[in-house]
Amino acid sequence: MMNTPTVLVLPFPAQGHVNPMMSLSHKLVEHGCNIIFVNSDFSHKRVVRPMENNDKNNDSSSSSPIKLVSIPDGLGPEHDRVNLGELCVSILNTMPSKLEKLIEEIQLNEGIKVICVVADVFMGWGLEVARKVGIKGAYFWPAAASMFGLQHNSPKLIADRILDSDGSPTSTTKSFWLSSYLPAMDIKVMWWLNMLDPLIGKRLFKYVLHSLKDSDVTDWWLCNSTYELEPQAFSFVPKLLPIGPLLRIHHNNNHNQIARSLGQFWEEDLSCMSWLDQQPHGSVLYVAFGSITLFDQKQLTELAFGLELTDKPFLWVMRQDYNGGGNKVSLPNEFKGNKGKIVGWAPQQRVLSHPAIACFVSHCGWNSTIESLTNGVPFLCWPYFADQFFNKRYICDVLKVGLGFDSNENGLISRGEIKSKVDQVLRDENIASRSHKVMEKLKHNIGETSSSSRNLNRFLTWLKE
Ligand code: UDX
Repeated sequence: MMNTPTVLVLPFPAQGHVNPMMSLSHKLVEHGCNIIFVNSDFSHKRVVRPMENNDKNNDSSSSSPIKLVSIPDGLGPEHDRVNLGELCVSILNTMPSKLEKLIEEIQLNEGIKVICVVADVFMGWGLEVARKVGIKGAYFWPAAASMFGLQHNSPKLIADRILDSDGSPTSTTKSFWLSSYLPAMDIKVMWWLNMLDPLIGKRLFKYVLHSLKDSDVTDWWLCNSTYELEPQAFSFVPKLLPIGPLLRIHHNNNHNQIARSLGQFWEEDLSCMSWLDQQPHGSVLYVAFGSITLFDQKQLTELAFGLELTDKPFLWVMRQDYNGGGNKVSLPNEFKGNKGKIVGWAPQQRVLSHPAIACFVSHCGWNSTIESLTNGVPFLCWPYFADQFFNKRYICDVLKVGLGFDSNENGLISRGEIKSKVDQVLRDENIASRSHKVMEKLKHNIGETSSSSRNLNRFLTWLKE
């Protein structure tokens, strides 16, 4: 135990950030590291701690190689953390000193030597703390590599007067070339301009700009992608190292699947797995919109009737907090949903790898995108906010493994549109065959000889030096 290096992992407090960093933590454990996983107090209380398959990595007890700890984010329990702008200001004011204290306490009281902080770019200040306490630091970017290229180059975009200092486009900007390496970008793909509240977008843009201001303090910028998936982006930012696909499903030596659920904010409803077992192969629509998306009543009604209209079996994730924060919605009275199953939270990666799944009606969060691509499941894209519009372009225009929904004149995706696009995507053999090819490429990157594994090994060598 004495020689086992301990790494502190620091995700932004959101499910879409905790998940890939937890998968990274499991990988580091497989390579002989211990992990201190630092959530905010608020996230820490939400995390369910299941014990499954006797997998010792699921255990967060003191003997586990992954220890879950927490520090406050500075907001009270009653505070609305959906307002990410306020949350980020509070994080910056509170968490750096708390993290410093935590590291000192761990080193002093528990005699553990923490050797490195791996910080989510959205918690980039963690590297400043690492420098202060004299340990190594590395960045982790939880979205597409192209989005990192865009974000990292935003100071240049500001200098070139394409963007104002708060990230809003100058009056003449419609589209621009960030580099000859990347496809033309336009303002629709800038994640900070796609927030539901534009003010929050501006605050987040400045927060991430601040996080990246000292990005050169480390040579290690890791991300959940692969060279094959985004060749242009990695040519544009050669320093960024893909170590993806980072998955929670792990194949043990007997090639059995072990799903590691540690870090989930909601309890997984496992009954959907036996339900899936009873459905014909390639028949089920999986419908899930990640951890943040909310629906209003009109759109929810269209979705419910649209699913019924397809006459296909469907597995639909409706989080309990669909009804939170003044957003009151319910399934329409006439909705029968006889062919469907609705759960509050699914074991998504297991679901996507189940042979019954035919396609994924998705909000195109980056984790969902990678998870579905790795399983060769075609998409029906329904982006909601942030980087999801960009991810949709990858899916529909670059990889061509899915179709997007079109809204009607009232801004709604109608039940008719849902049925028509479901029929279209399931009939399209080219989409099926391209999805299969992308899956093969991504699965190759799980293997020990892959470029992602080589990158991870380089990182580990540096870590243990
Ligand atoms: C957010 C942003 O939306 C996303 O675009 C960004 O890249 C990361 O932060 P989120 O909206 O939650 O994330 O979507 P996504 O990135 O897809 O992450 C959701 C995660 O929750 C995935 O790992 C998915 O497997 C998991 N999930 C989702 C479940 O385990 N069960 C479910 O029922 C739904």
